[in-house]
Amino acid sequence: MSDKTELGRLVAEAQASFETASTMDELRAAKVAHVGDNSPIALANRGIADLPKEDRKEAGQAIGAARGAISAALAQREAALEVVEMEARLIAESVDVTLPVSMRPQGGLHPVTGLFYEMCDVFVAMGWEIAEGPEAEAEWMNFDALNFTPDHPSRFMSDTLFLDPPQNHKILRTHTSPVQMRTLLTRDLPVYIVVPGKTYRADEYDATHLPVFHQLEGLAVDKGLGMAELKGTLDHLAKSMFGSDTKTRLRPHYFPFTEPSAEIDLACFKCHGESVGNPDRACRTCRSEGWIEWGGCGVVNPRVLAAAGIDTDVYSGFAFGMGVDRTVMFRNGASDLRDFAEGDVRFSRQLVGVAR
Ligand code: PHE
Repeated sequence: MSDKTELGRLVAEAQASFETASTMDELRAAKVAHVGDNSPIALANRGIADLPKEDRKEAGQAIGAARGAISAALAQREAALEVVEMEARLIAESVDVTLPVSMRPQGGLHPVTGLFYEMCDVFVAMGWEIAEGPEAEAEWMNFDALNFTPDHPSRFMSDTLFLDPPQNHKILRTHTSPVQMRTLLTRDLPVYIVVPGKTYRADEYDATHLPVFHQLEGLAVDKGLGMAELKGTLDHLAKSMFGSDTKTRLRPHYFPFTEPSAEIDLACFKCHGESVGNPDRACRTCRSEGWIEWGGCGVVNPRVLAAAGIDTDVYSGFAFGMGVDRTVMFRNGASDLRDFAEGDVRFSRQLVGVAR
């Protein structure tokens, strides 16, 4: 098959077939048909060997020229289709950077957790340690070890949540103070610890009470600690939390496990006392009282130290405990404690940045 017209027809057919291929896939099929091993031109090429010797040269040149023309047509079409396909891909895969993205909201810390971190940081910076204890606590640790008498009213079921069966004397701790005794029994002196934790009381669930709330407890036992060190420590905490001009006062109180005992009040950092007796300048933060109740504190009762086997002639200490939910409340103007438990992110988001 070295007939010039026949070869011309093969070339023309191949060119037409390449030209009509509109995708690379179609072109690949046309390539198999027109330059593949079984294509007419390949067969013609193989047939050269069967020709009489004197015809081979001419036939070889003609077939070679035809193959060259077919290959050139193929390469040309390939190059053209590559450009077309690349353009189509660029359009199909283009990204519209102006479209709105669907933002997945990030989780965040609960404001109470954030405030815990912040308060604990103040103490860790002074070399204190963090201690923890169980929320399901022995009644003995929660009360007896802390010098509560057997008939103390806060032991009653109306105040304390007992775990079944009640004769096991297991309760949900009503304060973080049982960790004081647990610490004294397990750590070497001196002791400087803060205890962030959950606490439980048989309270109504309303705007100012939660049956589950949070306290930060502090305990320091060393040589020569007393009321002055307690006041200095709490002042430092108050200034760190509420600003360097924050004032505190200690108001006499009673706790079985501290003696003397006090409640610590913060001078109102919002109105600085200017709302007191001044209805025009009413203050929601301190309810126009000028002072905000923050927590309980005192010098550790020597009976508590003695119960832990500590020589009270050598060692003394101070302790404090404050409500953390309450602190978020007056520090950040949250007005309903139930918001703390509902888990609505709109609440937490408002307080983002409160806890740095
Ligand atoms: N545990 C006390 C309370 O819950 C607070 C307190 C802690 C008082 C430490 C004195 C010392 O009210």
